[in-house]
Amino acid sequence: MKRIVLILLVAGFISACTGKPSHEAEMDKFIDNLMSQMTLEEKIGQLNLLSMWFDVTGPRMSEDVEQKVKDGLVGGVFNFWTPNAVRKLQDMILAQTRLKIPLLVGYDVIHGHRTIYPIPLGLAATWDTQLIERIATAVADEASADGLQWTFSPMVDIARDPRWGRVSEGAGEDPYLGAEIAKAMVRGYEQGDLSNQNTIMSCIKHFALYGAAEGGRDYNTVDMSRLRMYNEYLPPYEAAVKAGASSIMTSFNEIDGVPATGNRWLLTDLLRQQWGFGGFVVSDWTSLYEMEDHGVGDRAKVTEMAINAGLDMDMVSEYMIEELPALVKAGRVKTETVNAACRRILEAKYRLGLFTDPYRGASEERAKAKIMSPEKLALSKEAALKSIVLLKNEHQTLPLDPSKKIAFIGPLVKNQRTLVGNWCAASDWEQVENLWEALENKYGSGKFLYAAGCNLVENESIRRMTDPQGNVIDSRPSQQLLAEAVQTAQQADVVVAVLGEAYDMSGEAASRTSIDLLDNQKALLKALKETGKPVVLVLMNGRPLTLQWEHDNLDAILETWLAGTRAGDAITEILFGDANPSGKITMTFPRNVGQIPIYYNHKNTGRPFNNDSKFTVKYIDIKENTPLYPFGYGLSYTKFEYSDVQLSDSTLVGDGKITASVTLTNSGDRAGEETVQLYIRDMVGSITRPVKELKGFQKVALKPGESRQVAFSITTELLKFYNAGLQWTAEPGEFTVFIGGCSDVNNNAKFTLK
Ligand code: BGC
Repeated sequence: MKRIVLILLVAGFISACTGKPSHEAEMDKFIDNLMSQMTLEEKIGQLNLLSMWFDVTGPRMSEDVEQKVKDGLVGGVFNFWTPNAVRKLQDMILAQTRLKIPLLVGYDVIHGHRTIYPIPLGLAATWDTQLIERIATAVADEASADGLQWTFSPMVDIARDPRWGRVSEGAGEDPYLGAEIAKAMVRGYEQGDLSNQNTIMSCIKHFALYGAAEGGRDYNTVDMSRLRMYNEYLPPYEAAVKAGASSIMTSFNEIDGVPATGNRWLLTDLLRQQWGFGGFVVSDWTSLYEMEDHGVGDRAKVTEMAINAGLDMDMVSEYMIEELPALVKAGRVKTETVNAACRRILEAKYRLGLFTDPYRGASEERAKAKIMSPEKLALSKEAALKSIVLLKNEHQTLPLDPSKKIAFIGPLVKNQRTLVGNWCAASDWEQVENLWEALENKYGSGKFLYAAGCNLVENESIRRMTDPQGNVIDSRPSQQLLAEAVQTAQQADVVVAVLGEAYDMSGEAASRTSIDLLDNQKALLKALKETGKPVVLVLMNGRPLTLQWEHDNLDAILETWLAGTRAGDAITEILFGDANPSGKITMTFPRNVGQIPIYYNHKNTGRPFNNDSKFTVKYIDIKENTPLYPFGYGLSYTKFEYSDVQLSDSTLVGDGKITASVTLTNSGDRAGEETVQLYIRDMVGSITRPVKELKGFQKVALKPGESRQVAFSITTELLKFYNAGLQWTAEPGEFTVFIGGCSDVNNNAKFTLK
């Protein structure tokens, strides 16, 4: 008791002197003491992050990790989990290293750890930030029980180019929605208190602008004006920083000609000085090493650049441990700079509670209780259900009537691996129920007809690049597969074709020049169409696709993304109407790849697109220069009707607010959920302004015949943007408010900001 009182008194005294909360003051004292015992090499060791079990990507791999750990040359490891493995490693540290500093243990827990949820682009389509926060909390609970402390998530890169494979890992094209989702994920992972052992540390990535790589070519050059950065690309990173993310990862691309990993403007001026980020900055996999390939210097030079720019931790390059000691001795890097980086990493370890419990409570028992628990599986199904987007539904083809004869055709009907998507190496995909199994579990075996129709990937060169796990090859000639499918379809009342991308056709380094369905799959669809039967297309894929032919020719299209552990079940429930689709896409689906980049919040031109006008851009080869499916679009089995937009006032003054509202009515005959979206257009600005910007959204569940008023507050703050001087400001003048169920909404009212 006396000891506790003394500790409290000392802590109180320290905090009174420093003005910091007492736990922060205690942390400072602890780290001061620890660092006073550390050699320069040991401090630099803390800046080194190595991959433990396997290689993911990148030109360099981690070798002799255990020996380096024993030598005090490693601050953290990743690609490594399970309580026993982590315990063994931390025990080794305690027994065999001089200062016994526990390791940080991280992993790419991107859309679940063992229980897998829909890919992030699918999760975003739920527009349900509370659900996303609950998922991040559940993911942290499971991953932390499995020995992990740190996830390289959320990826908050705005992406407008579906050729870029990594669109599957983010929330899509919109900065407002992206920022809301980024905050929800950080809150869910960290819960504002990393000392809670059920949390994990988040890592915002990839800082910055990675989603704007030229032509959707992964790792490529980014060249962007400050205005576009501040108004369109930076908001999600800033929101995640402000939500308290404890770490951030640099991106592979350059910004203003300087690779992000060595960009002082980015890592210090913007991140630390303007945004007040207090966590640590980690590089991406060998992005420090890759600065040499970018052509900005040799290994010593790039290391000097990076640490002086504000990089704290080096993922896999090992340039910090190899180059920094000499750079410090030569005076090219100050000791204080190394100290500051080391301190930030030790602070993260302290906040995670590693100095009191290096295992963070991970044990086999806890893992058993938490991993794939019934609650998590239920949450995964809820997410899958809400992420699915109905893109087309003519003649009420969906939901299906189980008393009809239904043929399920396509290589993805019985495929398990694809359902869990990319970045899910800890999941046991072989235990995932595929769509066919889910159908049989619900309706009994022998009820539905089936044919594979084609291989998922027929093209030999694409097949070589995709993972064989996802491509169960049927070696029969393709004509035979096709003929069997046609024959099967002919016996049915309705055909459900289940097609899409192999799971590794999206994700890192998986760019495409065409985002059509693969030729063999299109040929199958055409043959099915020719049977004259109604055809429903169920898509499993990781990016927007170009679906003009499918839209023009098929009866219904359901986008299910790569929906995770419970995908089979969720798709079954949606197909047969036990659940009503409510997802809305968060990236524009183009008609044609040549329209890219295509996004809803574009600027106007002097000759805006208008089919009837002579003075407008014309594509010779497509009828309309509009999206096939715009941002925010998604249908339901019921019908929602919107009243006109009502404004509480036609003038907004200073720090006042006005309310914009609509009455939403479910005029169909099923219960359903609608995402009501608020868009605003600033009609005249000192710089050109987008034709529309998302400024709010609400999810509203209505029974058949039910109506509800949905209201949004509009304040001056909501109208602010960065002007030419990069000042965050709102300008007086006229604004148009749109409220509807999609970004192409025209239901509007106008007000003036005074
Ligand atoms: C990816 C990151 C990932 C890292 C570690 C890199 O190649 O760009 O997103 O977190 O590898 O696996």
